[in-house]
Amino acid sequence: MPLPAQPEWLAGPLINQCCRAFLASFKIWKTATVGGNLCMALPAGPMISLTSAFGGICTIWKADGSEQKVKVADFVIGDQRNVLAPGDLLRQIEIPLEALKRRTAFRQTSLAPVGRSAALLIGSIDGGGAVTLTVTASTTRPVQLSFARNPEGKELREALLHHIPDGLYHDDLHGKPAWRKQHDAASCGRNSRRAAGLGAIMSFEINGKAFSESPHAGQCLRTFLRELGFFGVKKGCDAGDCGACTVLIDGEPVHSCLIPAFRADGHAVTTIEGLASDGGIHPMQQAFSTRRRFNAASAPRAWS
Ligand SMILES: Cc1cc2nc3c(=O)[nH]c(=O)nc-3n(C[C@H](O)[C@H](O)[C@H](O)COP(=O)(O)OP(=O)(O)OC[C@H]3O[C@@H](n4cnc5c(N)ncnc54)[C@H](O)[C@@H]3O)c2cc1C
Ligand code: FES
Repeated sequence: MPLPAQPEWLAGPLINQCCRAFLASFKIWKTATVGGNLCMALPAGPMISLTSAFGGICTIWKADGSEQKVKVADFVIGDQRNVLAPGDLLRQIEIPLEALKRRTAFRQTSLAPVGRSAALLIGSIDGGGAVTLTVTASTTRPVQLSFARNPEGKELREALLHHIPDGLYHDDLHGKPAWRKQHDAASCGRNSRRAAGLGAIMSFEINGKAFSESPHAGQCLRTFLRELGFFGVKKGCDAGDCGACTVLIDGEPVHSCLIPAFRADGHAVTTIEGLASDGGIHPMQQAFSTRRRFNAASAPRAWS
């Protein structure tokens, strides 16, 4: 029976935000359960984020007939690992009513606009001004940081950088630990790149020219290059399928829509504009124009 939302439930929108962070087909949307999401303990489990941020308490019916209470934040213990023993059942998740009355802030980062969450942070402030920051998706298990009052951005970033061991960050194609750490810190305010010790200004060699730039947090290489005027880098599928955004990094073709700009820091990037030399055009450019190729979908083959 759906509970009618009460006006004082300020955290209501967070439920919608977390459901939307769930990159799933409508079939999953319609059939998946909150408990199942916790039990799957996948990196981008948005119900893990939601119920841990709400301070949820799991009731586990143990296989031996006993009952155990565990904070949601302690239920997931690693990538696809939780505290259930064989034969245990996650019977219910209790959400304290007080949690629904908190103001909340939601920050989600992924490599592509509809990509899997690479970081999902939820801040909540209670009636007394105490703040809890719940870090998920970037870390292999939820991490909660508590502050007696609303911390300054610097204090929040410092707590993130020092409280979460590097080994707790996921390391996969959705983001390297350093990048995830940067994003967690970026979600907490300005100059986080500097706070994350990842260097604010980066150096790139683009088509043989040196650039010192600071791509903004989460920016993919494609949009970064276009902002620098390299419009030969096109947008197609934005998901690594079509190749329209292909560039070379140190001579290797990559889909720049999937590469965070900061990954090219210190590397040589070649765009289609960079292929031409001394005013002539490159045989490949000639081939594109001869065959009237407007979509660079064949780009990856052509580049290699
Ligand atoms: C296309 C697609 C996209 C997806 N995207 C995402 C995503 O973005 N993020 C994400 O987190 N997951 C994703 N999933 C994985 C999965 O569908 C979700 O995690 C979903 O929330 C799992 O919930 P469920 O109720 O379907 O669990 P089920 O599949 O029914 O169960 C999952 C596991 O948990 C166990 N289990 C379930 N409930 C309980 C319980 N109460 N007590 C004990 N054990 C239990 C089951 O035995 C099973 O081992 C995706 C799956 C698909 C097919
Ligand atoms: S836009 Fe990058 S592969 Fe299609």
